[in-house]
Amino acid sequence: MNEIEEQKKYMQKVKELNNKKMKYMILTMGCQLNENDSEKLCGMLEKMGYERTEKQQETDIALFNTCCVRENAEDKLFGKLGELKRLKEEKGIIIAIGGCMMQEKHITDKIKESYPFVDIIFGTHTLQRFPEDLYKVLTDKKRLEDILDIDGKIYEGLPIKRDSKIKASVTIMNGCNNFCSYCIVPYVRGRERSRKPRAIIEEVKELAKEGYKEITLLGQNVNSYLRVEREKQIQFEEYNGINSFASLLKEINKIEGIERIRFVSPHPKDFTDDVIEQISKCDKVCKLVHLPLQSGNTKVLKEMNRKYTKEQYLNLVTKMKERIPNLTLSTDIIVGFPGETDEEFEDTLDVVKKVKFEQVYMFIYSRRVGTPGDKMENQVPDEIKHKRFNRLKELVEGQIEENNKKYVGTIQKVLVEGESKNNKELLTGRTDSNKVVIFEGDKNLIGQMVDLKIISEHMWYLKGEFINK
Ligand code: SAH
Ligand code: SF4
Ligand code: F3S
Repeated sequence: MNEIEEQKKYMQKVKELNNKKMKYMILTMGCQLNENDSEKLCGMLEKMGYERTEKQQETDIALFNTCCVRENAEDKLFGKLGELKRLKEEKGIIIAIGGCMMQEKHITDKIKESYPFVDIIFGTHTLQRFPEDLYKVLTDKKRLEDILDIDGKIYEGLPIKRDSKIKASVTIMNGCNNFCSYCIVPYVRGRERSRKPRAIIEEVKELAKEGYKEITLLGQNVNSYLRVEREKQIQFEEYNGINSFASLLKEINKIEGIERIRFVSPHPKDFTDDVIEQISKCDKVCKLVHLPLQSGNTKVLKEMNRKYTKEQYLNLVTKMKERIPNLTLSTDIIVGFPGETDEEFEDTLDVVKKVKFEQVYMFIYSRRVGTPGDKMENQVPDEIKHKRFNRLKELVEGQIEENNKKYVGTIQKVLVEGESKNNKELLTGRTDSNKVVIFEGDKNLIGQMVDLKIISEHMWYLKGEFINK
């Protein structure tokens, strides 16, 4: 029997076991890939008869989907577990922890020692077995650990409960082969595995049928989709000539109903000309491209194992700007990588000044056990890291303010996502460049692409006016 069919049997068994409505709460940390995994966990839980709650007090299961890319996620998890201990003692709720952090042995050891009340721990390669794990814990009342060190297969056909009815994430590949020296992801997510082209296209077509307007293609290294297969000449099932990220974009662009396509995260070293060409040609592909820089200094980039220089990055940006009209860029930057000097950090500021990113996600370097960066001796003191971070932040915020002004008076196509969180009277949506716009409008505009005239700018959002065409 196919593994997912077997899990579906467990879903049914759990449902019968509970024979009443049970509740779950889920806390997701980390990137969009993790959020997409959580949507699958929610899908499985709902099939098992559980209903989502945000209230800790009324839940029967507390589920965590963890991230370990930076240290702060650990503090958050352990803080929450401390809180849940009482609930466990009072009500005997099930506590389950999954995700990237569970692939780290020193963390699972700590949980077993200091938080023995945790019922299930599972890793990134065993997510699909959650129904079976839950069934076993409910029937045996014993703690269970389900973690694999070998790369999990790609499973199709898991139920999914998506957070939005307008925008959907579609994971196209798992894992990473790049081993940037600061990064834990390759160790906890395994090697690159691409989904079959047919499965992706079918999923997107189904989403279009359900009324979804925007999709985001996800992968740790999204533009190396099917690269391993091409390089090693591994046979894969042909589908509409898709054999690369560029050809995948081209095919998805044809799917009727989908109006916007985004993707994260590409790696600058794999940003080939055919991908640039498709971004430019495909009308649905948003002209905001996330292009992680990490550092602007060639020596630091080499130490980071990023495989490009400052000049190569800047040349790529120039080429992309030339070939893709209205291109905007966002990026990720790490400050305080081991050995980074003040002078080297200036190069990062220099690239930021030159490129003028639409958005910059800034991170203070965080030591990750097991990575080469952690073993480097010349760690940068916290105080210096913070100083650099603040300088970068100041520069970026100044640029964003400046950039926001350019929007005022323009007409922007905005996909309306729903009511604004802060003011239910207003609607909120995003531009092609992923800027939040709030405006007054009829609720039936939700889910539609509308033209808005931008009337004012604020640091993190724009205000718009609905233009009735
Ligand atoms: N695969 C993606 C995203 C990886 S994680 C990529 O290559 O862009 C998201 C971001 O977290 C990274 O881009 C990097 O900027 C940051 N990051 C990763 N490891 C980190 C660490 N040890 N300390 C601080 N930031 C880190
Ligand atoms: Fe981490 Fe680098 Fe892979 Fe991104 S490309 S996940 S930063 S190792
Ligand atoms: Fe974090 Fe895992 Fe994503 S470590 S950033 S949740 S792949």
